[in-house]
Amino acid sequence: MSNAATKEEQALVLIKPDAVSKSLTGNIITMLDSTGLKMVGAKVVKVSKKLAETHYAEHKGKPFFNSLIEFIMGEKYTPRVVAMVYQGPNAIKVLRKLAGNTNPEDAEFNTIRGKYGRINSKTKEFENAVHISDSPESGKREIALWFRPEELVE
Ligand code: PPS
Repeated sequence: MSNAATKEEQALVLIKPDAVSKSLTGNIITMLDSTGLKMVGAKVVKVSKKLAETHYAEHKGKPFFNSLIEFIMGEKYTPRVVAMVYQGPNAIKVLRKLAGNTNPEDAEFNTIRGKYGRINSKTKEFENAVHISDSPESGKREIALWFRPEELVE
């Protein structure tokens, strides 16, 4: 019988170019692992325009869309994203709480974005260190974009 309180889920986690450039990958993975969730996939990705636009398709037309695409492609920092899949009970909720508010200025200090995110003073863009899937459905869609099934070790 399924139990909503302990639902097994998978989430896509991206360590974005700002955090990779600042050598924060290890610190962020330590925080992610401290949740007790299991990392079942990981790799470094140079993000193509097609992958970026498909990943963020629901935001097409928003004022920040183009800068979001350029940002994840590494045009401001490095063209390296660390893509991971974490799995476990209520993974989405647990990881999004750890990541903190999308706007790094509003994120609690003990969250990933509270510690490592910022708003760029010139461009006003969020440089918020990580992306986490926002629902189990998004998780499935995003994981299928970034990983082949055989790349996941459960
Ligand atoms: S919205 O407006 O509620 O749909 O946006 P949200 O779901 O909060 O964010 C979607 C992704 O867009 C990024 N975002 C921004 N990037 C740069 N500048 C601004 N102003 C901005 N606002 C939102 C936000 O970080 C989300 O990307 P990820 O990679 O998930 O963090």
